[in-house]
Amino acid sequence: MKRLEKELEEKIKARVVELLKKGRPNWDLPHTLATVYWMKKLIEVEGGDEKILVSTMYLHDIGYSGLFGKVAGYDDVNSAWEKHQEIGALKAREILADLPFSSEEVEEIVHLVGVHDKIDLLKTKNEIMVMEADTLGQLDRERVVSTFSMEDRERFLDYVESKRVPRFQTKTGKNFLKEFIEKEKEVLG
Ligand SMILES: [Fe+2]
Ligand SMILES: [Fe+2]
Repeated sequence: MKRLEKELEEKIKARVVELLKKGRPNWDLPHTLATVYWMKKLIEVEGGDEKILVSTMYLHDIGYSGLFGKVAGYDDVNSAWEKHQEIGALKAREILADLPFSSEEVEEIVHLVGVHDKIDLLKTKNEIMVMEADTLGQLDRERVVSTFSMEDRERFLDYVESKRVPRFQTKTGKNFLKEFIEKEKEVLG
């Protein structure tokens, strides 16, 4: 289990912030930082390789960079679903090549970025933890304000409940997810 050294974390962060600012307006930067927060929280309780998992969260949505000129709705996001993972994996590889990661670490992170939204394919502990941190970092309203319309928020919540909830494995992730879903339902009425 490797720690992510502060200095290396800052280097990754500096690289991704530039890309995330050109991602989904008002979303990709705060969402990504929220997923980093949640991954650290999950690792604290559940264990896991911080170097791989926290780096993956920083990089996971950089593939949205340049894809949207306006605030993206649920349909826009769905249309870029495949593409943002492919582009993200390529860009992640470029960024990691300049930094002190072993080839095994690079392959694992690139893999995780490339597969993170393919919910039905996720199997390994790392894949599941990335999905959990990503989902929590979408619903944590203290850290991210939704850019979706109320209707799109409902559609997204339906999707989370049918597709993501059943895939959660960690106790910590499950507890917080339940809390966030309840809060979201209160807001949506
Ligand atoms: Fe994503
Ligand atoms: Fe994400």
